[in-house]
Amino acid sequence: MAPSSAGPAAPDGTAVDWDALRRAATDAMRHAYAPYSSFPVGAAAITEDGRLVSGCNVENASYGVTLCAECSLVSQLHMTGGGRLVAFTCVDGTGATLMPCGRCRQLLFEHSAPGMVLETVSGFRTIDEVLPDAFGPRTLVEYASTGSGSGSGPSSGSVDRA
Ligand code: THU
Repeated sequence: MAPSSAGPAAPDGTAVDWDALRRAATDAMRHAYAPYSSFPVGAAAITEDGRLVSGCNVENASYGVTLCAECSLVSQLHMTGGGRLVAFTCVDGTGATLMPCGRCRQLLFEHSAPGMVLETVSGFRTIDEVLPDAFGPRTLVEYASTGSGSGSGPSSGSVDRA
């Protein structure tokens, strides 16, 4: 079926139905457990093999234990076969686009296909644009194989910690 909404294709050129993705995020948001913040959040994403995964935030009386919507989305990703994410959106309690928090950008990076597209408050962005110079799985592989990273690690000497 042709996509019903304007928006970029996935990195491999497959069309993304951004309207459907937004609807899935909004449906997920309605399952949020947010009695402490009263700030329900829903997130939805498409995987490389075309599955749709979603999640909502789940808060806790011990506030710091709260799970963001992206956490349950990533759990569903793995519960339904794993793989990597190619397109993502997140909404607040009104259905408006919400920017994933910093921690969740890191979480999404771990499970992103190269060039993953996110709908953000400033338009469509790639994962590298919302988390530049990310620390990720490849960083660890680089350190393991060379004994150091690509220049941004502690051995680069580029940071003056006087
Ligand atoms: N929240 C998310 O679920 N995802 C984000 O990316 C931003 C924040 C949730 C956490 C908390 O339950 C509520 O929004 C208010 O911070």
